Amino acid sequence: MTSRFPDLRIDGDRLLRRIDDLAAIGPIDGGGSCRLALTDDDRAGRDLVVTWMRDLGLDIRIDGIGNVVATRPGRTGGPPVMTGSHIDTVRTGGRYDGNLGVLAGLEVIETLVGAGIETEHPVAVGFFTDEEGSRFAPDMLGSLVYVGGVALEEALDIVGIDGAVVGDELERIGYRGIHPCPGPAPRAYVELHIEQGPVLEADGVTIGAVTGVQGISWTAYTVDGQANHAGTTPMDLRHDAGYAAAAIVTHVRDLAVRMGGRQVATVGRLDLHPDLVNVIAGTATLTVDLRNTDESLLRGAEADLAAFVADLAIAEGVRIDGHSLARFEPVEFDAGVVDTVFETAERLGHSVSRMPSGAGHDAQMLARVCPTGMVFVPSRDGISHNPAEHTDPADLVAGADVLLQTMLSLDYPEPREAE
Ligand code: GLV
Ligand code: MN
Ligand code: MN
Repeated sequence: MTSRFPDLRIDGDRLLRRIDDLAAIGPIDGGGSCRLALTDDDRAGRDLVVTWMRDLGLDIRIDGIGNVVATRPGRTGGPPVMTGSHIDTVRTGGRYDGNLGVLAGLEVIETLVGAGIETEHPVAVGFFTDEEGSRFAPDMLGSLVYVGGVALEEALDIVGIDGAVVGDELERIGYRGIHPCPGPAPRAYVELHIEQGPVLEADGVTIGAVTGVQGISWTAYTVDGQANHAGTTPMDLRHDAGYAAAAIVTHVRDLAVRMGGRQVATVGRLDLHPDLVNVIAGTATLTVDLRNTDESLLRGAEADLAAFVADLAIAEGVRIDGHSLARFEPVEFDAGVVDTVFETAERLGHSVSRMPSGAGHDAQMLARVCPTGMVFVPSRDGISHNPAEHTDPADLVAGADVLLQTMLSLDYPEPREAE
């Protein structure tokens, strides 16, 4: 499949400059950024990207959950060919996770503007609120609300890990917009993202044509035991919340190793109280992140963990309460969009392979309402959610060119005979 403008390419230097400029907001040691969702640094990042959108004369709409969508009109009206991603980060964020997709989308539009090309349909680039879910769970919150997966009112009431409330924080940073949620379904959605894993680099492949996203299950546990003296309490009389938490940590690790395949399991947060050397922990809070590409295997992992936790509570004489923070089934992308990404990458002379995504993405939400796909580029050493996150500049530019040509093909699949 080719596009009407097969030789058009993005301006790589401009893209790389913008990545640097955005990474300079909320800088952290090691070259990454910290822009947790709806913080002052997130606002500063948003303001910068919105300024760039405004400079291009785009129609900018901010909705009730703070998603920002900027649209350039096409020859005909109707829904846009859309791209986007997120600009919030985890606390130890790299420079590319999310940012690449948004800035490459902006670059696609600036390239069209610079070449004076009128697309058939409108073209849009958006950034979605709180994709990371690190501060406010679930992850992909903005895109979930955008597609009607959760009601706006419910999302606005979510309380973060620091006690802040989504609605209050949106008001505070000036991004509680007036446009309705759910938002309008695009004609198609395609998102460029770094792989955040080791596969493309290990295989020596430049472009991933992403076939779907694995299922995600997040649970927060609170363990209530009994704080007591570390020196005087015999081992058989303890109700040790720290021990119970540690048992969950090791169990989920063993569970994933035992299951093998694509099952992964992580305890990323763990707090003990009172957190003192000579006091048995009375309370522990922790999170478990389980993921699998296969829904039935993921359910099996959840059931195994639930049974383990119930037995553990009895054995240690503690109370363990779990509540779900996020639960999304595996998503398969549209075969036509995946093929378009694949064929576009080949046409541009890049090595390409089909692959599932291990990370969650806004695209998995958009897939509920329109034909959707993603483009991956390699991550050095497979490192992400870490300031050391790195992608070769040539790969960043290659990914943005594949995004441009894919969007042009989705805009107008067949070249016009008269042209
Ligand atoms: C989002 O980045 C996730 O996959 O956790
Ligand atoms: Mn991301
Ligand atoms: Mn991320």
